[in-house]
Amino acid sequence: MAKRIDVSGLDIYYGAFKAVEGVNMTVEPRNVTAFIGPSGCGKSTMLRTLNRMHEVVPGARVEGKVMLDDQDLYSSDVDPVAVRRVVGMVFQRPNPFPTMSIYDNVAAGLKLNGVRQKSVLDDAVERSLKGANLWKEVHDRLNRPGGSLSGGQQQRLCIARAIAVEPQVLLMDEPCSALDPISTLAIEDLISQLKERFTIVIVTHNMQQAARVSDATAFFNLSGQGKPGHLIEMDSTQKIFSNPSEKATEAYITGRFG
Ligand SMILES: Nc1ncnc2c1ncn2[C@@H]1O[C@H](COP(=O)(O)OP(=O)(O)OP(=O)(O)O)[C@@H](O)[C@H]1O
Ligand SMILES: [Mg+2]
Repeated sequence: MAKRIDVSGLDIYYGAFKAVEGVNMTVEPRNVTAFIGPSGCGKSTMLRTLNRMHEVVPGARVEGKVMLDDQDLYSSDVDPVAVRRVVGMVFQRPNPFPTMSIYDNVAAGLKLNGVRQKSVLDDAVERSLKGANLWKEVHDRLNRPGGSLSGGQQQRLCIARAIAVEPQVLLMDEPCSALDPISTLAIEDLISQLKERFTIVIVTHNMQQAARVSDATAFFNLSGQGKPGHLIEMDSTQKIFSNPSEKATEAYITGRFG
């Protein structure tokens, strides 16, 4: 079941440093939402607060509210591990379990969730690797370690691992930055299929990609060096790329800004 995310009054800190300030946004279910903006404006930070991965950095914390449907993700009775099970993530840098086999990398989450039946695991591994466009390259070497794959293959392995557990929300931080154009298009196709079932948020520096895959786009920006990032505007992707409300958005998407 895809879920809606409602963020209100969110400030995000690393120790005393406020990285992101005052974010209010709604991420719709069964939609792809793109986060765009210059390097350092807080896109990855923002993404990581949506599944409580932010707080694994010592001293990192948030103020404000993140609701997943009617559940307050930062409420004291919420288990962050349980949150990460329903809000999956693909990181900016591929992070497979390097010594674990390709098969086990994909099956790990299901096994953690108690799935033991080999035929069920086999099916899920094949389906997820096909979904991530990696099956053809690895189907005859599923016992090789995840770390033996190329960078782009590792990223696709991480995508397969994330979708194997059928999360309700999938967060993807520049998932295609290490991929060749064919794999990139395959991942974009996959994202379009997945959005029928999941809520998807993707961070991308590729404006064409944001325009191709997303329904809504959120533009983040920095007001200055050492200042926190802000959400400048969020709207339908169509509107952001044809007639944004803010001058800064237009400057960024047309490349007149760096
Ligand atoms: N682990 C951390 N500890 C301290 N500060 C951090 C940490 N991670 C990020 N920051 C700071 O938070 C701010 C936002 O960083 P973030 O990585 O979210 O930016 P980004 O928009 O994802 O950039 P990029 O497009 O380069 O990936 C930056 O000033 C960065 O230096
Ligand atoms: Mg980033």
